[in-house]
Parts: sequence; structure tokens; C-alpha cells
Amino acid sequence: MSTQRTVVLIPGDGIGPEVTDATVRVLEAVKAPLSYERCEAGMEVFTRTGSNLPRETIESVLRSGVALKGPTGTPIGSGPASANVGLRKSLDLYSSLRPVKSVPAVETRYQDIDLVVVRENTEDLYAGLEHIVVPGVVESLKIITEKASTRIAKFAFEHARKMKRKKVSAVHKANIMKLSDGLFLDCCRRVARDYPEIAYEEVIVDNLCMQLVKNPEKFDVLVMENLYGDIVSDLCAGLVGGLGLVPGANIGERTAVFEAVHGTAPDIAGKGLANPTALLMSAVMMLHWLDLPEQAARVEKALQTVFAGRKVRTGDLGGSATTKEFTDALIAAL
Ligand code: NAI
Repeated sequence: MSTQRTVVLIPGDGIGPEVTDATVRVLEAVKAPLSYERCEAGMEVFTRTGSNLPRETIESVLRSGVALKGPTGTPIGSGPASANVGLRKSLDLYSSLRPVKSVPAVETRYQDIDLVVVRENTEDLYAGLEHIVVPGVVESLKIITEKASTRIAKFAFEHARKMKRKKVSAVHKANIMKLSDGLFLDCCRRVARDYPEIAYEEVIVDNLCMQLVKNPEKFDVLVMENLYGDIVSDLCAGLVGGLGLVPGANIGERTAVFEAVHGTAPDIAGKGLANPTALLMSAVMMLHWLDLPEQAARVEKALQTVFAGRKVRTGDLGGSATTKEFTDALIAAL
């Protein structure tokens, strides 16, 4: 019998509580040996307390080592710094792992996409170091270090080796940012030498975007800095059917926070229309991380069954099912 693990549950904002509730229902239905400690982050707790990332939330994740998180809102142009960036930095969750895979029976332009976006999670323009030089001129600092670039490159190659993947593509713009992206590339090249069985290539980020739209099957593991990773992840989500489907994990040395790629979806929040698949697949990644492969396989199989039935789909995939109806169908399929 497996011992019970405590998972910190951070519902977040917008559709976050809806998709986390749906996910917990499914995890309970497969009898995953988990207990949940609910913690807060995001704009809702900010308006009540003045902090979008309470200290207790960070401490709870540090204690338990694992969290399942819904999206948290970040106001545009003003307001507090992102709770996500804060969480990733304070827990040193340096790698963001986002598998992007075609879902059988979900029709898109492509049917055989199977790639992984590995995004550096702690620096780059996300360092949030901005200041007004003089009125009308703003400086925003892009921080790239040898340490963070080397460890994300190692993470990408180790992941490729473990999952028996064939190629790692380092994504950059070193033709323009010769020093910062140049350093990132140097680190990737050095790490690549230790993995002779894995092919290594370099792709300029704008060309990557065009290639992804035209020939996504050419790519396998993509490793990149923080900002490129943010943008490319959404592009890749679009290739397989949208943000409702793509999961993710933020992984550090001792701690992991599992969350979907999508945000709070303000346009559908509170209406019970969100697709919980992306968070549910993030929970599947969490179950594997917790060494609970049986429960992970059962959830995945139920998702495949419901998608293959083509009857119960949420609005983002052209259906009319609510989050609850979709979750009920999943539980029935277990
Ligand atoms: P978004 O991902 O929230 O929404 C983009 C579009 O995708 C919307 O049309 C939305 O309805 C749809 N969508 C997203 N997830 C869906 C789901 N599960 N089911 C059905 N449709 C879904 O991106 P947006 O609008 O740029 O960001 C909204 C807020 O979310 C912002 O405050 C942003 O900072 C935050 N955000 C938070 C993230 C996180 O906490 N990890 C990640 C991305 C954005």
C-alpha cells in the first residue's frame, strides 16, 4: 500500500478553482493516495490581504515538496509582480517542462505532434528588473547566466535521454543578442557534447515559429530561455487543439509545482465552461512524479475514452459540455 502524500493545492484565479475542483474529483475517483492542503496565491488573495503570494503558501510547498496549481492573474502594466514568477523564483523551480502531444480524436491540422518545450524559469527578461531612465525611456534588463543556462540545458538533455528522445533544439536569437543568447548557446553546446547519442541543433526563434506552424513533426525537445518559452508554449498548444489541453510542470531540485500552460481565461471564468484536461494532464505528470503510475494510466485512459467518444467536449474543442459534465463523463469512463 502506498503512503499518503500531501499535495499543496493552489486553486488560483479565474477558471483556476473550477479546473482544480474537477481535477481533485478525478484524483479522488482513482483513489490516488493523496491529501490536499489548500493554499492561496493570485489576485483574489491580493485584494483581500495585499499579497498575491503569501509566505504560508511558499512554506507549505517547501514542506510538502509538491503542489498542483491553478492559474493566477497578473494585471497588465501595473499592480503587483507576478505570483507565478515569485513562486518559481522563491522555490528555484528552474525548469518548466511542457509536453505537447496530439490528442487522438481531437482533429487539428496535424495529427502526429509529440514534442516537449523545456523553458528556463528563473531569469531572462522575467527577472522583472525595469526602471525609467528618463521620462519616456524605460530600461528592462535581460539576465542570462552561465549557471542557469547550463542547468536548463542539462535538464533538457537528461529528459531527452530518459524519454529516449532523439533530438534537442536550442532556440535563440544570438544573431541579435550576441552576448546573452550567445552565452545561452555556448552552455547548450557544451552540455550537448556529453550526450553524443542525442542529435543537437540550433534554431533562431522567429524561424522556429514559422517551422512549427509548417512542419511541427520536425521537432522533438526544444530548450529555450524564459520569454521565448512562454510564447512558444502557447504556439505549440495551438497546434494540438488549444490551451485547454496542454499540461506543464515547474521542477526544481527538491520541489515541483504542476500547472497547465493556460491562464485564468477571464472570458469564460465563473461560467463552468473551462476544459479541465490541461490541469488534469498536469496532475497525471504529478502522479508519475510521485511514482503512482497506475493511477496516472487510469486517468489518461479515461481521457482517451471520452475524447474518442466525440460526444462530450467543452466549448474550446467545439462541444457544448460544461466542466462538470465533462468531469462526470471522465469519472464514468474510469
Ligand atoms: P489565457 O490562457 O487565460 O486565455 C487565452 C484563451 O484561451 C482564452 O480565450 C481562454 O478562454 C482560453 N482558455 C484558456 N484556458 C482554457 C481552458 N482550460 N478551457 C477553455 N478555454 C481556455 O490567457 P490570457 O487571457 O492571456 O491571460 C489571462 C490571465 O492569466 C492573465 O492575468 C495572465 O497573466 C494569466 N496567466 C497565468 C498563467 C499561470 O498562472 N500559469 C499562465 C498564463 C497567463
